[in-house]
Amino acid sequence: MMTWWHELRQHPVLGDIILVALALLTLGLRQLAHRSRMGRRFDPAFTLVAIGLLSGAVATGLRLAELTAAAPYFDAACFGALAIGVVQAALTLFIDFYLSQRGGAAVSLIFRDVASVIAYFLVIVVVLRSTLDINLASLITTSAVLTVIVGLALQDVLGNLFSGLVLELEQPFSPGDWVRVGTFEGTVEQTGWRTTRLRTRVNELVTLPNAMLSKEAVVNYSRPDPLYGDTLRFDAAYEAPPNLVKEVVMGVLETDPDVEATPRADVRLECYRESSIGYAIRYWIEDFRALETIRSRILTNTWYALRRANVRMPFPARDVFVYSSAPTMVSAREVDPVATLRAVSLLAPLSDAALAQLVRQVHRHTFGKGEVVVREGEPGDSFYVIEQGSAEVMLGHDGGMRALGQLNAGDFFGEMSLLAGDPRSATVRAASDLSVLVVDRAAFKEIISADPAILEPLSKIATGRQVAQQEHRRSLESLGSEALAAQHAHNLRDRIRIFFGL
Ligand code: CMP
Repeated sequence: MMTWWHELRQHPVLGDIILVALALLTLGLRQLAHRSRMGRRFDPAFTLVAIGLLSGAVATGLRLAELTAAAPYFDAACFGALAIGVVQAALTLFIDFYLSQRGGAAVSLIFRDVASVIAYFLVIVVVLRSTLDINLASLITTSAVLTVIVGLALQDVLGNLFSGLVLELEQPFSPGDWVRVGTFEGTVEQTGWRTTRLRTRVNELVTLPNAMLSKEAVVNYSRPDPLYGDTLRFDAAYEAPPNLVKEVVMGVLETDPDVEATPRADVRLECYRESSIGYAIRYWIEDFRALETIRSRILTNTWYALRRANVRMPFPARDVFVYSSAPTMVSAREVDPVATLRAVSLLAPLSDAALAQLVRQVHRHTFGKGEVVVREGEPGDSFYVIEQGSAEVMLGHDGGMRALGQLNAGDFFGEMSLLAGDPRSATVRAASDLSVLVVDRAAFKEIISADPAILEPLSKIATGRQVAQQEHRRSLESLGSEALAAQHAHNLRDRIRIFFGL
């Protein structure tokens, strides 16, 4: 470098022209490179080289004008800018192209910054030494006071910086991962020089010093894959057969939209306690963010499912208070089933004796808001009368569900499968906490046999519902709705008679 510099000094005017021309050429190249995304990364390098060349031109000009005192400073600026520009270009080539392509991932910001700062520092030390005869390195190393002040001031910063570098190298997490560090849990927003930021479930931004992350255990829920196995515990009464309890809770897990099919969820009997049997549920989810919602839904639906199966969740035996075995939802506003069934206009023709006989055979089931009572396509042999709450009737499956209508206290459903033996024609889901009276096929047959006049209005209602479904499915192009209704009514009546052997 020095040889051509001396050559130029022999011919200062020519040298000046060449330096200015080279600076302009460099700026031109910068403009050209700036057009592409890759090329833009070299912008600072081109700018620095151009500044270096112009500083060289100024230094030569000053010497020409015999202002030699200021010239060495421009020499220093010239060599410094040129060297830093070249180092900058080399780092860009090495980190952005070579390392990124080999590693596949983008090289961390911290690594790039630290490499740049070290390289620039070395360049500045060499340039100051060779042009202005300033020995920066010895100035820093020989000044004990300066070293102590800088050392103490930077102790924490450097600790965090090196921890950040170690984290970058080890990569225990990357932005977007869900992690737990100590008591903090959240998604990683970014890792900087000094700190790493987590966004918690309740949208707090927690800033953790990198040094803390390298000391504490970091649990990464997103690695090696987003599958997360969660465990929930509950107690059931001693008199409930464990296999029944497991089966009921498995039903809840298998119908939950967020529980993964594989690995398969399981319910284990964990221990015998003083007054209950302890069970553990293990299930797998992909969306760790929704964990609390999923847990709450599984525990809620477990409560309802166990109640329907008459499995009690006992209180500790030591508690001294009178335990009422009825569930709060129904007991608070318990309705007389005779009154409920009497209010159903369809059953109006039944005599008091027939109704009393029916009431002895029905069961009361309760469902939590959102729970599915009957599912489209599944076989069904029960008829439901709504005692309290409301239900929505839906067509279609996950993702493409459309509401058909709402049913309230005194309404009934499930008659279509029961009447003709078809699979459930729609899904009925609890729109609020729901209490229903369930009539099974045998009891239903008794009602129809006791008073076959019920069949007429019942099949009319079922036909009306069938037509409403057809309209929803938009398949009425070739047949008018009245013609379709008449045809359905006729078909259904015949099929019901055949099905029940009437
Ligand atoms: P089933 O087919 O046994 O199960 C789903 C139930 O949803 C069905 O019986 C009817 O009781 C009810 N259902 C179907 N379509 C409608 C509708 N259009 N309006 C009200 N209830 C309906």
